[in-house]
Amino acid sequence: MEVVIRPNADAATDLVARVIARELRDNPCLVMGLATGRTMESVYARLVQMHREEGLDFSAGRTFNLDEYVGLSSNHANSYRHYMNHHLFLQVNIDLQNTHLPDGMAADLVAECANYERLIAGNGGIDLQLLGIGQNGHLGFNEPLSALRSRTRVKILSPVTRAQNVPLFPRPELVPHRAITMGVGSILDCRCCILLATGEEKAAIVAKAVEGPITSMISATALQLHPECTLILDEAAGSQLKESDYYHWVFENQPEWEPFRAVSSPIAKSGFQAKRQLEKQPVEAMSDVLE
Ligand code: GLP
Repeated sequence: MEVVIRPNADAATDLVARVIARELRDNPCLVMGLATGRTMESVYARLVQMHREEGLDFSAGRTFNLDEYVGLSSNHANSYRHYMNHHLFLQVNIDLQNTHLPDGMAADLVAECANYERLIAGNGGIDLQLLGIGQNGHLGFNEPLSALRSRTRVKILSPVTRAQNVPLFPRPELVPHRAITMGVGSILDCRCCILLATGEEKAAIVAKAVEGPITSMISATALQLHPECTLILDEAAGSQLKESDYYHWVFENQPEWEPFRAVSSPIAKSGFQAKRQLEKQPVEAMSDVLE
């Protein structure tokens, strides 16, 4: 595991987007594992900006999202399919046929989960998995006690997770109780993982995930088992880490980070600036795209 702490959320977001862009340029057929949540909105805004201004090409890319709520259709405003279409897929030149999320409306959820695993394997596995972290340390919706070898399955959302998502729903009682999520084991199979966390409210759980013992109570601690995992944080999210001087030293001296040490060119906007700018533009017509 490697930890990179950037001075602020803009710089952390920008770094994540630049790493994804580099991987996509190196391998246009990249299989991307994608995440949702507020933290990711700025990453997607920055990728959309790179597509528009630098021609970042998604046309051959393939995506698999971590999770989807059970009971929400793909065109429901709170579904993760809707989130992904809105924030990324309909704003870049990706082929929607190559974008995948579990179907939370499937009649047979067990079969849907097995099928999702088969689909990922059939695409050669996930090359680059983008991750956020929940307040309780979950990855995707791998709530406390998720087995470290778990695969895609239905999980019941914990009260902490439902409370965290209340602001995104019109009313608290509308937050679903269940979701399909890739398992901790499915995530550990990805070739490379990047977790982005920003803000003071993530500091305590990030410290546990990075420097605490591995436990199924906090699924993010399982990333300590992954051979190629990088956590990218802002100062606030990294503020409770004990070894931050060491992490800073590694980033400043490791040759592989050389192309990323310099800040983006002054004309390149940060993820947050890009997000604000996109929000000012009229929302593109959203078609009700089904899987
Ligand atoms: C949801 C998603 C997680 C994500 C988390 C973080 O719970 N299922 O994959 O990591 O939100 O959300 P935020 O970025 O809003 O803190």
